[in-house]
Amino acid sequence: MSAEDQKRLSGEAAAALVQPGMIVGLGTGSTAAWFVKALAARKLDIVGVPTSKATGELAASLGMKIAELGETREIDLTVDGADEIGPALALIKGGGAALLREKLVWEASKRCVVIADAAKRVPVLGKFALPIEVVAYGHKTTMARICVALSECDIGIAPRLRVKDGAPVLTDGGNVIYDAACNAIPEPALLAAALKSVTGVVEHGLFLDLAELALVGTDDGVVEVEP
Ligand code: A5P
Repeated sequence: MSAEDQKRLSGEAAAALVQPGMIVGLGTGSTAAWFVKALAARKLDIVGVPTSKATGELAASLGMKIAELGETREIDLTVDGADEIGPALALIKGGGAALLREKLVWEASKRCVVIADAAKRVPVLGKFALPIEVVAYGHKTTMARICVALSECDIGIAPRLRVKDGAPVLTDGGNVIYDAACNAIPEPALLAAALKSVTGVVEHGLFLDLAELALVGTDDGVVEVEP
C-alpha cells in the first residue's frame, strides 16, 4: 500500500471519532487533508477550527462551518498529522510551516489525535529536521543564539533558514522557519525548554505530552498507538 493510502486510512479512521455538535481542530498537511475530506463527507453539524489558511480554505470549499481559535467554546478534539512520531507519542511537526497555529489549537483542545502513515514512526526523534519558527526581525542573530541552545543539549549543528524560490518561507504569522537537522534528539523535553528560552524563538515543532492517541495507517489497516 502506498504512503498516501495509509494516510487516507488514518484520516478516515479519525473522522469516525467525531460526534455531532463537536468543535473540531483541523490539522494541516496531506494526512490532515484526508481527515478533513472524510469529515466533510459525513456532513455532521460540527464547527472546524483550522490550523492554517490552507486548511481553512479546504474546509470551507467542502462546505464545512469554520471558526477562528477563541471564537468557539473549548475544542473537543483536534486531529492533525506529524512528521515524526517517537516514543510516548512525542512528535516533530511543522514540515508544512504551520507549527505555531497547530500548537495553539492543540493546547486548546480537550483531546488530540495524531494521524500518519507507518513511515512516520521512529524509535528516536530527530531524523526529520526540527522546524523552529523565529521572528523575522533579527533572525540571524536569533539563529546564533539557537546554536548555543542546541550545543547545550549536545547537538552541534547550525539550523538552516527555510527558503523557497529564493526567498525565506514566511509562516501564516509572518515569521521565518529554521530547520535543525539534529539527527537524534534523545531528550526532547530538554531541547524544547532550551529553545523556548531564546528570545525571538516563537515556537518549535516538538509536540510533547499532547497527543493521547495515534492512528497509524499500515498495510494491515489502522493501528492505534497510545503514549
Ligand atoms: C504542518 O506544519 C505539519 O505539522 C504537518 O502536520 C506535518 O508536516 C505532516 O504533514 P503530512 O501529513 O503532509 O506528512
